[in-house]
Amino acid sequence: MTEGCESVVPDLKNKVILVTGAGRGIGRGIAEYCLNQGASVVIAEIDPDRVAAASKALSRYENRILGVTETVSTMEGASRTVQASVERFGRVDVLVNNAALTKDRSIIRMSEQEFDEVIATNLKGAFNCTKSVLPQMLEQGAGRIINMTAVSGFSGNPGQTNYAAAKGGLMAMTLTWSAELSRKNIAVNAVIPAAWTEMSETIPTEGLIQAVGEEMYRRLRSRKPSQVAPLIGFLASDAARGITGQCFSIAGRELAVWGFARPVVQAEAPDEEWTMDSLETFVKEKNNLWQKPVEPFI
Ligand SMILES: NC(=O)c1ccc[n+]([C@@H]2O[C@H](COP(=O)([O-])OP(=O)(O)OC[C@H]3O[C@@H](n4cnc5c(N)ncnc54)[C@H](O)[C@@H]3O)[C@@H](O)[C@H]2O)c1
Repeated sequence: MTEGCESVVPDLKNKVILVTGAGRGIGRGIAEYCLNQGASVVIAEIDPDRVAAASKALSRYENRILGVTETVSTMEGASRTVQASVERFGRVDVLVNNAALTKDRSIIRMSEQEFDEVIATNLKGAFNCTKSVLPQMLEQGAGRIINMTAVSGFSGNPGQTNYAAAKGGLMAMTLTWSAELSRKNIAVNAVIPAAWTEMSETIPTEGLIQAVGEEMYRRLRSRKPSQVAPLIGFLASDAARGITGQCFSIAGRELAVWGFARPVVQAEAPDEEWTMDSLETFVKEKNNLWQKPVEPFI
């Protein structure tokens, strides 16, 4: 955090919020919440049917909603999305890099194409949209970028080489951009959501239950996109001024702030420099300090 949070009532009136992948799931939940809080929202989405369905469902906000059918995975698509937003609303205050897809498979079976497609949308897509929106935010003298990421970006996840790599990269870009842009009054944060969506439906049930247990599985199925949206609304609001370079997770009622990778155990070489023997002794004595089982988060 750069400075203390000001006491401002969270309010999204007059904000223009561009949400990628907002045709369904968490993105659509964010779009609806922000519209309800008074923002103008761009529903940017690759699938024309989802753009149409979301626009129809939210048509009561007619003057404050813009549906754009474009892909984030090319610079041209991202650039056209930003251009359409500025043409319609005159500015973009907040970019939510939410569009993503999964193509899960073990590294043994994953094809180069499956790797490239996920990286192109989930990682490069966020780069493309951020690059495209930055000139506008710099001109405005203010902006917010929120990157939707995932625990697998910290912990890895069997079957998700491509997805985990993209989400880990997105965490790294969040830190990098927040450091580069805070002096320009542009805040960049990451959010790890948990909601049962059509993306969640692609995970084989049996494997998921095996990985997290019945109880966690039931909890995950009960999570709703609408439970994620208030955190995004808050980070988009003036009340979140000063918050940058942070990663929040939200799962139902559970909120957490995540620390990025820091050393967990430190030691100095007992002699002039580390040897294979002293390293072996160190590992034997201290491995209980860092080899802790990873708690599943859902
Ligand atoms: N659902 C969860 O519990 C969960 C957990 C961790 C992270 N996330 C992240 O939250 C975000 C939303 O996830 P969701 O569960 O709502 O997924 P979802 O699959 O329901 O929605 C993603 C949307 O992105 C769109 N999209 C895909 N490729 C695109 C492209 N190239 N250009 C534009 N739009 C594109 C899809 O058409 C879809 O409408 C994603 O970034 C996801 O990785 C979700």
